[in-house]
Amino acid sequence: MNETAVRTLLTDLRRACSHRRLYGAAHHLTDTADAAVAQAADQLVGMARRAVLSLIEDTLYLDGRPLPVTSVSFNGIIRCLQERGVESVAFEAPVESADCGGLAALMCGQGDGPKLGATVVLNDDERSQDDIVPSVSEGPRSAYTSSLEALRSIGISLRQDAGIDLTRATSAVRTLLDQLISQPGAAFLLTTVKSHHEYTFFHSVNTAIHSLALGRMVGLDEDDQMLLGMGALLHDIGKIGVSAAILQNPGQLSDSDWVEVKRHPQLGAEAILAAAEPGQEAAAIVAFEHHARFDGLGYPSTSRRHLSPHSYGRRPHFFSRLVAVTDTYDAITTRRAYRRAETPSRALSTLLNGAGTSHDPDFVNAFIRMVGIYPPGTLLRLRSGHIAMITHPSNEPDAPPFGVIVANSEGTLLADPEPIILDKSEIVDQVSPARVGVDPPSLLDWLSSRLPLAS
Ligand SMILES: [Fe+2]
Repeated sequence: MNETAVRTLLTDLRRACSHRRLYGAAHHLTDTADAAVAQAADQLVGMARRAVLSLIEDTLYLDGRPLPVTSVSFNGIIRCLQERGVESVAFEAPVESADCGGLAALMCGQGDGPKLGATVVLNDDERSQDDIVPSVSEGPRSAYTSSLEALRSIGISLRQDAGIDLTRATSAVRTLLDQLISQPGAAFLLTTVKSHHEYTFFHSVNTAIHSLALGRMVGLDEDDQMLLGMGALLHDIGKIGVSAAILQNPGQLSDSDWVEVKRHPQLGAEAILAAAEPGQEAAAIVAFEHHARFDGLGYPSTSRRHLSPHSYGRRPHFFSRLVAVTDTYDAITTRRAYRRAETPSRALSTLLNGAGTSHDPDFVNAFIRMVGIYPPGTLLRLRSGHIAMITHPSNEPDAPPFGVIVANSEGTLLADPEPIILDKSEIVDQVSPARVGVDPPSLLDWLSSRLPLAS
């Protein structure tokens, strides 16, 4: 499945739009960006005559096959195309750079789209609705994108120094919770969606999903689950007040940069508190304390740093200790400007190493029990050199997990992944999706219509 090529194409298209806005259509950097889009489109078409991207509601399809994760990651582009009446974009090789420029111009409101007879053709999909393979994760994805929208709108208000409205965030958390109850497997898989472009918002939604699931697992009632979910969704909202240059700095931060970064818990808590309804203050506490460690260190620093954990009578709030674990897990498994993404197993061992110091050991253990050592979507290198992906975990601790072989020993992806019962003694290492070139949630979504996967 050529989802990576679609992602490259959409990333290049986004760049072509921003170059057009920044420099205008005649600038050589805009020409270069258009040429990159054409090259990415040629890669996507490959040996076939044409490739068609279709848009139905908030789902993007490649030649009739749903791309659930790309639909979430690039939902801004999808919305932009839909607002301009685009239902499908067909690319016909060799794709012309000028036609890609026409598409980019349409997207940023500077043109009417590619000209008649072009190699980029709009709204000319020959497939009928019946040919489209339905996506199984519609509800959870819609909840995910609503949460992103809620955060974006809060972000806009904060940037304008306006007060924030928590209504959308509250209903987004409600929807996430509903989806976690009705489709836990699909909702959980979406936590592997990452975005370098909008790191804070995607990270916050992932943290909210994991926190809600962990909150349910430790027996919180529904009102507390909602408060916890709000705290988790909004925990990093104060980063809106921190300069992007500092947040995306690939090198070492200076002392003054750190002072600014460390302001985000306070900024977030103040903004939430100003907008919170009576009873919603816990969300502000989570934002304020999510970098406060279990042993009293961390930040914002308080007088407790000078006391031993035993002499200091108060730990961070129950919700803050829980969110500190889920926040750390998602942060470690996400690529940042200054480091690569780590595999889930390395993130879990970091949490275990910090149990009792950085983190509440009870929440670390509960979280590991919840996600399992090999959660669905985990990619494993086997002794044979093949790469397997877990499709559903074992129900018993000693039972083998189920999976599919996704790549042969040469690293070539298989067109039809082969089901396998994994012998744990055959597992050599865990590998990252980027290294293998697959997108686990999309692959699981696609497989679920062909294999009997667990929910
Ligand atoms: Fe943070």
